Order: sequence, then structure tokens, then C-alpha cells
Amino acid sequence: KREAFVPGWTKGIQRLDTVGSTQEEAKILAEGGAPEGTTVMAEAQTGGRGRMGRKWHSPHGKGIWMSLVLRPNLPLALTPQLTLLAGVAVCTAIREVTGVPAGIKWPNDLLAGGRKICGILLESSLREGGLHYCIAGIGIAANLTEEDYPEELRGIGTSLLIEGGGIPVDRMRLAKAVLEELEYLYRVYLEQGFQPVKQLWESMSVTLGRQVWVNTPQGRTEATAVGLSDNGGLLLRNESGEVVSVLSGEIEMI
Ligand code: BTN
Repeated sequence: KREAFVPGWTKGIQRLDTVGSTQEEAKILAEGGAPEGTTVMAEAQTGGRGRMGRKWHSPHGKGIWMSLVLRPNLPLALTPQLTLLAGVAVCTAIREVTGVPAGIKWPNDLLAGGRKICGILLESSLREGGLHYCIAGIGIAANLTEEDYPEELRGIGTSLLIEGGGIPVDRMRLAKAVLEELEYLYRVYLEQGFQPVKQLWESMSVTLGRQVWVNTPQGRTEATAVGLSDNGGLLLRNESGEVVSVLSGEIEMI
């Protein structure tokens, strides 16, 4: 089936040197009508952004800092599914290209050796109450050394170089593999729905079956991660045995 798939997104990657955030660059292109799959990749970001208003450390020439434009025809409530889809695509590409056994921590952090190797930020722009476009931002710590991390991130962040035994990653090759995987999976998703993505996500997850701390605006509770809900939330069994779904927020594995 895959043989019939001809990737298109990998052809037009726009490469920039230093930017504030590739999210902003991609947004400008999206506002100008750029087609789906339009991708910007920078050598460095001075204002790289993470989830929950955090900063994203993006040193020059060391990582894959890229953002792409998506224009799915989806109800807003289903965008968490896209976030999970992106995690699956990047995880697949990393495993294939580098052999590093990355796994997904809900919703879409990629971990290797227990530390973070990639983060994904999906931002949606609305028009007339519906989804206008999404910008999927992907940050992969490709060739960072321990010294490239500031003190406060050591022990939290790792890289493909570190986890791959010191072999540097060809960033362009990996970026292309990520885009190709994303485009393929996105097409499968539009044609067949969330089920195939959900199955892949569950098979790559390092969260399921684990005891976790859940941080939500309502507070912090302990629970067991038991699965994904159909809209992309995390299903948790709490201490009283009830299964509840969390759509956004953060978990810490215990
Ligand atoms: C997270 O784990 O909190 C998400 C991190 C997302 C980082 C990427 S790097 C490319 C794109 N540009 C940004 O400013 N952020 C995303």
C-alpha cells in the first residue's frame, strides 16, 4: 500500500539560519496562503517555544527545529489526535534513521534513555469559530552534547548523538524522513480516521501501564495510565478505580 504513496512535503523545506521561532515563520507563510506541508527549518532559534509557555533550547546547528503548515478539515475538538499523530511519525522516523529506541510519553514527548529527545508543539489558528490551520512544531535534539545543555536541563534532556553512542545524525536526512512519515500517516488518518494512529501510538508509548502523577488545572493526582480515548485524551484509572480521560495537561511517570 505504501508503494503507491509519493511524498511531496519533503521537496520544499525552507531553510533559515537564526530565527525567533520557526512557529512564527510558518504562521506568516500560512497566513499568506502557503499550502499544507510547507515547512520551515532553522539552524537556531532565539525564542524557541515549548508547551505550557516554556522556552525551548535551540542551539545553532545542533538540532532539527522545524514547523509545518497543516490545513485539516477537522472539528477543533479533534486536534489532540493530530498531536499524537505527529509524535508517532517522529518516533518512527527516529527509530528508522538512527536506531535509537525512542518511546512516546503522553501526549507527545519523545524519550530515550528516560530523558527527553524531542518535543512537539501543535498550535491552531481559528477562523469563524472553526479550525483555519495548524502549525506543527517539532524540535529534535539531534547532535547536542551534554555540554550544549544549560545546567537546569541536564538530566532532563538528551540527544540522538548521546543515545546513539556518539554517532552524529545527518539532520537533513532525518528531517526528510520525519516529513515523509508525517505526510504518509496524515494521509492514512484523513482516509481511515484515528484508529490506525491510536494503535501505533499505543505500541510506541512508554506511558501506558505506568503509575503516573497527573497535573491538571484542578490539581495533582496519582493514577494508572490505561489507554487512549477516541479523541486523543489519556485514559487514567484513579485510586477509586474510576477511568477518567484527560485531554491536556502533564504527567510524570512514577
Ligand atoms: C515541548 O515539548 O514543549 C514542545 C517543544 C517544541 C519545540 C519546537 S522547535 C521548532 C518549533 N519552534 C518553536 O518555537 N517550538 C517548536
